[in-house]
Amino acid sequence: MDPFQYRALRGAPELAADGVALVAVAEAVGTPTYVYSSAALEARYRAFAAALAPSRARICYAIKANDNLAVIRSFGKLGAGADVVSEGELRAALKAGIAPEHIVFSGVGKTAREMAAALDADIGQFNVESAPELEALAVVAGTKGLRAKIALRINPDVDAGTHEKIATGRKQDKFGVAYDEAPALFRRAAELRSLDVVGVAMHIGSQLTRLDPFEAAFERAAQLVERLRAEGHAVSRLDLGGGLGIRYRDETPPALDAYGALIERLVRRLNIEITVEPGRYLVAPAGLLLTRVIYVKRNGEKNFAIVDAAMNDLIRPTLYGAYHRVVPVREAPADAPRETVDVVGPVCESGDVLALGRDLPRLAAGDLVAILDAGAYGANMASAYNGRPPAPEVLLKDGRFAVIRPRLSLEALLARDVLPDWLA
Ligand code: LLP
Repeated sequence: MDPFQYRALRGAPELAADGVALVAVAEAVGTPTYVYSSAALEARYRAFAAALAPSRARICYAIKANDNLAVIRSFGKLGAGADVVSEGELRAALKAGIAPEHIVFSGVGKTAREMAAALDADIGQFNVESAPELEALAVVAGTKGLRAKIALRINPDVDAGTHEKIATGRKQDKFGVAYDEAPALFRRAAELRSLDVVGVAMHIGSQLTRLDPFEAAFERAAQLVERLRAEGHAVSRLDLGGGLGIRYRDETPPALDAYGALIERLVRRLNIEITVEPGRYLVAPAGLLLTRVIYVKRNGEKNFAIVDAAMNDLIRPTLYGAYHRVVPVREAPADAPRETVDVVGPVCESGDVLALGRDLPRLAAGDLVAILDAGAYGANMASAYNGRPPAPEVLLKDGRFAVIRPRLSLEALLARDVLPDWLA
């Protein structure tokens, strides 16, 4: 069930969650604004954790999906660790109260500075993605007299069957160590005294809507673990990455139970500690982008609802051709006239489209609409393009709401730049 439902909290039915009407949020905070439901965040985490309970997997929330401290902390309180990909995300995880030993550091381009920060924080695991990175980490850790716990991220050469830009497990993708090179690199890592090699990691892509690519990749990882063990390495951890998809439109992503069962089989076979790094699954449906219609423009050919959110706030439709459902915030009567509209933002690019050709109740200037399933890869992919401060973020909880990332003032936006003395 969608977390945001039409409720007659204040008269006519309007979208609400956690006992809060979105109209009230729009009135208090303005638009565009991201809105997240605590109830949905918590329910999704609990469901995910329950499906993985039999395999006793550690859930390291992939912060890149939504790096708001309040969101990270909401999951942390439920027991989540964190998957981070930069020093910024590392700091966010620590600030949100995630225990360092439950932090995994992923990414193909960790700098020496980032490695040092993560070593100082004593994080639980570095997922190393290349031979040069392995050597660099050994040097940084050695210089500090510390040992880095590492897993080797392999590239299983499996096609996740997802959007081209978010598939990460094929040979041609930049991620992970080539499968066949992994044993040699494992041997090399074992020689380096500043490294403590604990396991194997992988992540084949995001928004997977079928189970078989997971199955194929897990099988490759399992075979590698068996081979490494046969060669005498103690492989105690297997990090399976994230990637479980959600339904944006008509996709039928795998059921949580089926995903959980696949992982449980792996645990039985290998007797190994599992880590997973879910992002989107936990947050996407728990958030929406609340926006107001500025104008409706009908040019004979097409109808455009020009709203105050734009590609700078939510870039997924522009970047990936992603589909997000759009619904009016005030429920339209069943007999309301409808029309087909493109929901577009004010940014000066034809690519600034949030939704194309949608059949919606006829909209008018001032109407509020919600762009659904925007909790993941929304707010934190935002920019200030066209001089637009990105949409703020609001968290709902038990009839209350809080602004968890305020709207940047135009003063703050302009204060980012500094005039050099010769132009002052
Ligand atoms: N672990 C690693 C190493 C990752 O690179 C990612 C996502 C995840 C975990 C979490 O994957 P998830 O469970 O969220 O699928 N901006 C794109 C998605 C990029 C995903 C990048 N990596 C989008 O809006 O669809």
